[in-house]
Amino acid sequence: MGKNAGCFQGCLHYVFDYKTSKTLVIPNLGVGCFFRFSQLLIVLYVVGYVCMVQKAYQETDSAISSVATKVKGFAFTNTSDTDPRFWDVADYVIPSQGDNSFFVLTNMVITPLQTQSRCPEIPNPSTTCVDDCDCIEGYNDPRGNGIRTGLCENYSTTAQTCQVHSWCPLEIDTKLPEHALLAAAENFTVLIKNTITYPKFKFHRRNIRPHINSSYLRACEFNRATDPDCPIFRLKHIVSEAGEDFQDMAVKGGILGIIIDWSCDLDWWAGKCLPKYSFRRLDSKHPVNNVAPGYNFRFAKYYKNRDGRETRSLIKAYGIRFDVIVFGTAGKFGIVPTIVNMGAALSFLSLLPTVSDWFMLTFMRKRDLYSKWKVTYLDEDAVTEDGPEVSNWL
Ligand SMILES: *[C@@H]1O[C@H](CO)[C@@H](O)[C@H](O)[C@H]1NC(C)=O
Repeated sequence: MGKNAGCFQGCLHYVFDYKTSKTLVIPNLGVGCFFRFSQLLIVLYVVGYVCMVQKAYQETDSAISSVATKVKGFAFTNTSDTDPRFWDVADYVIPSQGDNSFFVLTNMVITPLQTQSRCPEIPNPSTTCVDDCDCIEGYNDPRGNGIRTGLCENYSTTAQTCQVHSWCPLEIDTKLPEHALLAAAENFTVLIKNTITYPKFKFHRRNIRPHINSSYLRACEFNRATDPDCPIFRLKHIVSEAGEDFQDMAVKGGILGIIIDWSCDLDWWAGKCLPKYSFRRLDSKHPVNNVAPGYNFRFAKYYKNRDGRETRSLIKAYGIRFDVIVFGTAGKFGIVPTIVNMGAALSFLSLLPTVSDWFMLTFMRKRDLYSKWKVTYLDEDAVTEDGPEVSNWL
């Protein structure tokens, strides 16, 4: 009975004793320094990193953008394989318009005068044959050039291959010129019109700045040092800023990124909001083992012969695809993020006494004394009305 009552009383004390904090001043330089130094660190972190670097007092929004491009330039080609030919933008930009990207033809394999007919396959281990038995009629190899007719035919005086139903003559794409056909493309220019919006802040901006007039636009060219505002770029300049050689890249093609960074601080005390251009090659320059390098695709132009037969010119086009990549985040002072981050900073500071107590009770020489004095159980019957005696022996 008595034992149970003691336990019951203990529980009552545990639940209902009111704990109030009492200030115990510890004149110890070590603990004091630790506390102040930690405080300083937290204040520096909040002011220096959270406010100045991260700008955590800002609300943010990401950009919505639109891009339009216009390439200009002419070329004239006159090689031994092809007739003299003049090229303008309708010939070398494929397709004529696209979203955020444009392709400039620089090199090609042309197979003219193809018609629907039969012809022998290009020789390789899977297409060579000895007689008709080696060629199964109707066999269709996706890596071949057509549907087999079941005949074995002379490809040349030394090779026999299976005959296929296809657009003949077949394309021989190993005849790619070693120097880009449209080498002149390096001097083409592109006008990039880019508009961005930060809907949350009702902020609109164009990369063509208000002070630019049309006569300036006719003559200017982007240059980071001398003319950073001009939205007209010379293709060679873009490629060389990406660390590549235009003529080198033009042979097998590639993909190049034109990156426009609109990250802005929209607070009135911050600077102007201007686009920052950078350029980077997006495909890999030297693929492993040099397998499948560059960028190419095929397209054809169809027409009817005088005798009414459908004929086409097949073009395997190599060139540089320019992708315009726009991104940006804008920040502006906002009361909600400010309060949230101030709260976080204050909670850091309020953690500090606990950490300092731990430091004091673990590392200080007089830690036993401190721990004895840290918690006082007020025995109301035993103390005098004058309060505790002041001890001088610390
Ligand atoms: C591009 O223009 C420069 C200067 O106008 C010229 O020297 C160069 O030969 C041109 N490039 C090609 C491939 O025509």
